[in-house]
Amino acid sequence: MRHLLSPLDFSVEEIDKLLDLANDMERNPSKYSELCKGKKLATLFYEPSTRTRLSFEAAMMNLGGNVIGFSSAASSSASKGESVSDTIRIISCYADICAMRHPKEGAPLVASLHSSIPVINAGDGGHQHPTQTLTDLLTIRSLKGRLNNLTIGLCGDLKFGRTVHSLINALVRYTGIKFVLISPDELKVPDYIRQDVLDAKGIEYKEVQSLDDAIADLDILYMTRVQKERFFNEEDYLRMKDFYILDKAKMALAKPDMLVLHPLPRVNEISVEVDDDERAAYFKQVQYGVYVRMAIIATLLGLEVK
Ligand code: NCD
Repeated sequence: MRHLLSPLDFSVEEIDKLLDLANDMERNPSKYSELCKGKKLATLFYEPSTRTRLSFEAAMMNLGGNVIGFSSAASSSASKGESVSDTIRIISCYADICAMRHPKEGAPLVASLHSSIPVINAGDGGHQHPTQTLTDLLTIRSLKGRLNNLTIGLCGDLKFGRTVHSLINALVRYTGIKFVLISPDELKVPDYIRQDVLDAKGIEYKEVQSLDDAIADLDILYMTRVQKERFFNEEDYLRMKDFYILDKAKMALAKPDMLVLHPLPRVNEISVEVDDDERAAYFKQVQYGVYVRMAIIATLLGLEVK
């Protein structure tokens, strides 16, 4: 039995296969519409979510399966003091696979140790978000045609943004990847990413503050929200929240084929005036998130169309 806790749980070859499967699911939905008949997905969400939870549920329904779950800690027995390890033992009796989001780093890992069904990390605190990363990889590969030889700008909250941490981990395995890390000083990527991933692998990167100065070199601009819920005080958040606002004037400085990605939800960091720009790919990215989660569910359950 396999879990998906980090984007590194799949090899590069396995990711290629998974993305191929997601593309095939996009092209031939009816081929897969009964693949998960009789199976249940449990969504255990201890933290708010719109896209991740609902795209998992939509994905399971597209595969002909069913869904159970809860969407907040308050509506589960966590509010009575039940541990994650007890909860997963219970859920293992009800469902065939589960997706868990939790504010504590490592909670899905703990769950996996006590689970008899595959556990998918749907975001753990400021740590990792592997299914968003697979969504990002599918989006980039589908729209750019490659995952190598790319200069990627990651902009915003690089400290607390788990989507950024997972994406860096995943992309360093491809060749010719360069990063431009664009953030205020207080929100730079954590040391464990800079030293243990970027430096350790000899990846080319620079850390800058100005989006205006960096944007012209980028093939991909990955914007992120300042992670309000992970700040220790409101004052710091308010000071930081509108540090970057991508607007038409900034887009005018970018390459004609640069893609703008964002895991969403967006707050103010991308002006709505950018939405009509052909390079804005963040709503397409949402659609890719459904296909990739269909592929993840099928792969972890070991199901194939004959
Ligand atoms: C992200 C998350 O939850 O980390 N959202 C998502 O799953 N698409 C990004 C965010 O909340 O800013």
